[in-house]
Amino acid sequence: MTAYQKARAALDAERGRTTRDYTPRGAMGELWTTDADEFILSGPAGTGKSRGCLEYIHDCALRYPGSRQLIARKTRVSLTESGLVTFERQVVGEHDPLVANMQRGNRALYTYPNGSEIVVGGIDRPGRIMSTEFDQIYVQEATELQLQDYEALTSRLRGNAMPYSRLIGDCNPDRPDHWLKLRADTRACTMRPTLHQDNPRLYTDDGQLTEFGRKYLAKLNNLTGVRRDRLLLGLWVQAEGAVYDDWNDAIHLIDRFDIPADWRRIRSVDFGFTNPFTCGWWAIDPDGRMYRYREIYHTKRTVAEHAAQIMALSEGERIEATVADHDAEDRATLAAHGIHTIPARKSIRQGIEAVQQRLKLAGDGKPRIFILRDSLVERDEELAEAGAPTHTAAEIGGYVWAKGADGKPKKEVPVDVDNHGLDDTRYAVMYVDQPRARSRPNDLYD
Ligand SMILES: Nc1ncnc2c1ncn2[C@@H]1O[C@H](COP(=O)(O)OP(=O)(O)OP(=O)(O)O)[C@@H](O)[C@H]1O
Ligand SMILES: [Mg+2]
Repeated sequence: MTAYQKARAALDAERGRTTRDYTPRGAMGELWTTDADEFILSGPAGTGKSRGCLEYIHDCALRYPGSRQLIARKTRVSLTESGLVTFERQVVGEHDPLVANMQRGNRALYTYPNGSEIVVGGIDRPGRIMSTEFDQIYVQEATELQLQDYEALTSRLRGNAMPYSRLIGDCNPDRPDHWLKLRADTRACTMRPTLHQDNPRLYTDDGQLTEFGRKYLAKLNNLTGVRRDRLLLGLWVQAEGAVYDDWNDAIHLIDRFDIPADWRRIRSVDFGFTNPFTCGWWAIDPDGRMYRYREIYHTKRTVAEHAAQIMALSEGERIEATVADHDAEDRATLAAHGIHTIPARKSIRQGIEAVQQRLKLAGDGKPRIFILRDSLVERDEELAEAGAPTHTAAEIGGYVWAKGADGKPKKEVPVDVDNHGLDDTRYAVMYVDQPRARSRPNDLYD
């Protein structure tokens, strides 16, 4: 029995409940043996990275009385439906007093009987993180951070209740020039690849696929392009022939700010049921820059259900116009709920060019279009489970031009997959920019 399992068994016995069995496999086991200051688990979706890190954090809280640790992610809200679910349901146990009596969304701190604390925080709300110190920090989805966020966290590692201070993290692969990959390549941090075989839910001890494993890997196998390479194969690759190759998370994805009430506001809608229905809310500043500040991105709901939510979320906002996809019936349903729409200008190429133009840095060194990073109203868990994009910014990396007969991307037609939020974005930009209609012979319309 490992020291961890002994500590767990002791705590469970104290609480009179059966021990929850967790055995780390592969690189997850190194969490308990490494002496690296920065230790990152990377790899395809579902290998057990987050569970491993959270079990390790829990173990350290049990083993080191009075220790202070942090569970962090780029935005606090994104932790509620990801890391905290795994921590409360699978690591600690829902009925444990440690996690009882508090909604995950309001959770700021876990306090252990031995005086240990685990703080929960988002980089988007630095107050709770930056004014204090920790023995250990766990960063979930570390690739979402900017390098300066990451370095700010390492500067907090000055606790003295544990024999070492460490930052651990997990991530899926991203573009090969991502700062975290470059940091690992230069050995400034230790990054360990993880495999699907490391997760007992997917593979038995003797390497046989479980029924759950077969179904889950089949879902990942259905992914396309760069998403399949990263989430199934664990490759750090960039999409070949990206349509929006000027997009840069560090520039175009920004933290929330108070949007002045007098700025113009519009909405843009792309209908869908099996595919995500998307609705983007945009604010336009006096200089014409566009900010996507809220979005619905959800499958399996009727237009009437979405309409009610759109009306509720827009309460108190003066919406100048709503541009929508052309489905007459769906537009009529929106109108019946008080959402009157303008049919979108759907020229694909003209729309893409207009968005590309806005992504470029203008003379003032700023682009003309941004997405506020916590815009998503509610994550569609089914999409997340399938490894599909769950919001517009997540679509951009995989949005590519279709390849020609020579196998090379031809900048004519984009691959029409996972582009729902990007379609409504195009509609919004065409509405704001109102470019002169150009009837190009073989222009395309979605
Ligand atoms: N060693 C283990 N024993 C039992 N269950 C495990 C183990 N490792 C992972 N799991 C379970 O497998 C599922 C996926 O694990 P986890 O969320 O940690 O994967 P991940 O690598 O972080 O995935 P993603 O890349 O999507 O973030 C979870 O339900 C988790 O509890
Ligand atoms: Mg994870």
